[in-house]
Amino acid sequence: MEIRGFTESDRDELRVLARRAGAGAPTESLWGHPESEAAIYLDPYMDLEPRSLFVAVRDGALIGYLAGCVDSAAFPGEDQRIDEAIRRYRLIFRRGPAAFFGRAALDTVGAKLRRLPTAGEFTDPRWPSHLHINVADEGRGTGAADALISRFLEHAAAAGSPGCHLQTVVENTRAVRFFERMGFAAHGAEPLVPGLRYRGGRVHQRTMVRAL
Ligand SMILES: CC(C)(COP(=O)(O)OP(=O)(O)OC[C@H]1O[C@@H](n2cnc3c(N)ncnc32)[C@H](O)[C@@H]1OP(=O)(O)O)[C@@H](O)C(=O)NCCC(=O)NCCS
Repeated sequence: MEIRGFTESDRDELRVLARRAGAGAPTESLWGHPESEAAIYLDPYMDLEPRSLFVAVRDGALIGYLAGCVDSAAFPGEDQRIDEAIRRYRLIFRRGPAAFFGRAALDTVGAKLRRLPTAGEFTDPRWPSHLHINVADEGRGTGAADALISRFLEHAAAAGSPGCHLQTVVENTRAVRFFERMGFAAHGAEPLVPGLRYRGGRVHQRTMVRAL
């Protein structure tokens, strides 16, 4: 198994891998439209910060990846990327995504009425770097994820970043345990993620941080 930096020739294979690498996680699919989800969580990393994107390769095939960013303030924010994807893919006119956004609007109103917070972007200069990691089933439990994280954290530290954050969900217990083992600690509240459901239940955002 090899960890290496993304190269342009990985692009097509990585897009295919991204469609299945999150399988089983609560965030496996947000609204059931992989292309627009890749436009938020993968394409900008390939296009704007390819040097912070790392892949795990086994027997010549990609089995996992980490899409990172050293300075989140210099990267388009998640809300902006979501808004662009909604417009570009006309998501509110597509059945699956429209149902998601309708449910999200109801969840948001419900939370507001109860004066509860909802999930949002995290910005704190103590932890300016961030990452998204997905390892396909055949690469889980093999150390590929550990190696991807270590490689990105070394890269971010070498670039002068003082810390890294990530956002996962409380209900992704495997990922949370994994991130804790990699030195990340929970930070802040656990607000509802509007619209998202996992095994029929609501899902809550967990922000985690680690100094570099
Ligand atoms: C999160 C992820 C990168 C972790 O990598 P991994 O190789 O699975 O990590 P580990 O093997 O260290 O497993 C993490 C924990 O799950 C446990 N685990 C192992 N096999 C498991 C299984 N089949 N089901 C549930 N938990 C399992 C491990 O024992 C470990 O827990 P422990 O530290 O308490 O022992 C990987 O599982 C993944 O990509 N999952 C899908 C996408 C995802 O959730 N990405 C993160 C979104 S923020």
